[in-house]
Amino acid sequence: MIIMEIDLSLIGMERGRQYETIITTKNDDGTNHAAPIGVLCSGPDIIICRIFKGSHTLENILNRKEFYVNITHSPELFTYSLIDEIADDCFNDNTTLKGANAYFKCEVISFKQAVKQSDPVKRKDEAIVFKSKVIELVINNETQAFNRGFAYVIESLVNFARFDLVEGEDKEFYLKRFREAYRVVNKVGTRQDIKAMRKIKKELKNKGHDL
Ligand SMILES: Cc1cc2nc3c(=O)[nH]c(=O)nc-3n(C[C@H](O)[C@H](O)[C@H](O)COP(=O)(O)O)c2cc1C
Repeated sequence: MIIMEIDLSLIGMERGRQYETIITTKNDDGTNHAAPIGVLCSGPDIIICRIFKGSHTLENILNRKEFYVNITHSPELFTYSLIDEIADDCFNDNTTLKGANAYFKCEVISFKQAVKQSDPVKRKDEAIVFKSKVIELVINNETQAFNRGFAYVIESLVNFARFDLVEGEDKEFYLKRFREAYRVVNKVGTRQDIKAMRKIKKELKNKGHDL
């Protein structure tokens, strides 16, 4: 179904939150390319993505100033696109992925060099941030773009339930995982995810742990 009035909330994308997607682009030689990329929703038809230098995706976007964002929950598509093993017959003629529940086409509005200091991997001036306008939205099956926040809330709850069963180094192992989960959820999660993580943090603090 082609959506006439573009609104990313139709695929569950909220302003200010980041979603995990697969960006597909055309290479110089006309072949297709796919890579998992986090996409920040910045309005009903505006997205921002930050792409590290050295990737094909970055070169392709700089060359053509357009790309497709594919929405899927397929572990295979995410895995094979990361390790560059997506067969050409997985693509539609327009460069989108056949397995995508939805996709949208983007045109780059502006781009600049940037690095975010909160990153676990800080590589100065090694990324480019693209602001892009969505010019076409196609929903094949009703879907919600994948947000890492909820997965981290569930993971943190599972670890919280194990927490009292372990001692010493194992406790520290779970605390370390919680700190990382808390950081990521605050960056990408929904308001509800962030609220849940704050509650878990409070409970851990009540148990006397330094977070
Ligand atoms: C879920 C997920 C999200 C990712 N998000 C980004 C991102 O936002 N920016 C980026 O540069 N790389 C991101 N990556 C890493 C790229 O997919 C990876 O570097 C890939 O090899 C891109 O390079 P290529 O275009 O040369 O294939 C992500 C990987 C995964 C699995």
